[in-house]
Amino acid sequence: MKLRTKLMIMLSLVAIYSSITVWGLVVVIDNNRAFVPPYGKSIIIAILITIILLITVLVANYFSKSLSNPIKDIRTITHKIASNEFDITLNIKGDDEVEDLAKDIEHMSRKLKKSYDRLKSESDMKNQFINIVAHELRSPIQPILSYIGLIKDGLVEKEEAFKIIDSEGHRLQKLANDILDSARIESDTFDYHMQKIKINDKIHKVSDSLRPTLNKDVELELKLEDNVQIIADPDRLYQMFANILSNAIKFTKKGKIKIKTHLLPQDIEIEVSDTGGGIPQGLIPRLFEKFATRTVGAEQSHGTGLGLFISKAIVAAHKGNISVYNNDQGGATFTIVLPIAN
Ligand SMILES: Nc1ncnc2c1ncn2[C@@H]1O[C@H](COP(=O)(O)OP(=O)(O)OP(=O)(O)O)[C@@H](O)[C@H]1O
Ligand SMILES: [Mg+2]
Repeated sequence: MKLRTKLMIMLSLVAIYSSITVWGLVVVIDNNRAFVPPYGKSIIIAILITIILLITVLVANYFSKSLSNPIKDIRTITHKIASNEFDITLNIKGDDEVEDLAKDIEHMSRKLKKSYDRLKSESDMKNQFINIVAHELRSPIQPILSYIGLIKDGLVEKEEAFKIIDSEGHRLQKLANDILDSARIESDTFDYHMQKIKINDKIHKVSDSLRPTLNKDVELELKLEDNVQIIADPDRLYQMFANILSNAIKFTKKGKIKIKTHLLPQDIEIEVSDTGGGIPQGLIPRLFEKFATRTVGAEQSHGTGLGLFISKAIVAAHKGNISVYNNDQGGATFTIVLPIAN
């Protein structure tokens, strides 16, 4: 075998071997030309340098792309975040700083989403508050002003006008008090003056004061356990019962409202049930939250939706519990459980 052929075979084997293991550069040159005078070597060196440069450019291009593509993806995502699109996933793998950066951006986006949702719901609630309060403020002011005008012009019986002005004035006062109470509950400054009281006294007092507001086809029935004492703030307890009972009265056009107490080993259970329309299903999950009320602007307004929020806070401050369900045969039942005094 000629030396040239031997050399060719050997170089081919080296080329195959290096392509299997690591990449390498194999230059096959003619045996005769390998030993030519020095000017021949210069050409070979020039070719080698060109090839090395070419490879360097290709490798640099490859690395710059592998770095710039994820950065482009990250930029696209940051633009999305800037326009409040937080549900993003960056599929960047690489076990390097770029992947760490992508993970940090995903984490930051999740945190931003939480803060954004919280701020949005707070802002929605404030808007809802402004709508409801504006509506509830306007409703009593309008009849008050109208009746004052009618009295001035002598177009209405004073007695009738004063009755309306008085009731609308009280409605305004209740609104102001409820807003203030809710703010105090939220800032933990709603104070209580606890003392031992007979629970039946409170229930009778609330019932007597609200009985005149019952619709004419509605009966109010009381079935109370005797001599039960609890530790409570009498005014706050009155406020809570008054809201539960006035709701029952407001939503019951005919039938019966029953207040029943039942003694448990450590507690007293008070049930207020009515035969009204029941609580709208959609409202039940957030019934004890602020502004849980029927839509403002519906043909009839039902209040600010602060009553049950305040009632729940009052019951909780007495270490009790309040719950509600709709009766099978119609209407709603509120159950309040309070610890009895030893
Ligand atoms: N007995 C009930 N029957 C039917 N719906 C009720 C009853 N009690 C409460 N609700 C529903 O729950 C809502 C919230 O009651 P809540 O007492 O908190 O507010 P409100 O009565 O609307 O206003 P206010 O702040 O003046 O009490 C009511 O608007 C009503 O839709
Ligand atoms: Mg109410």
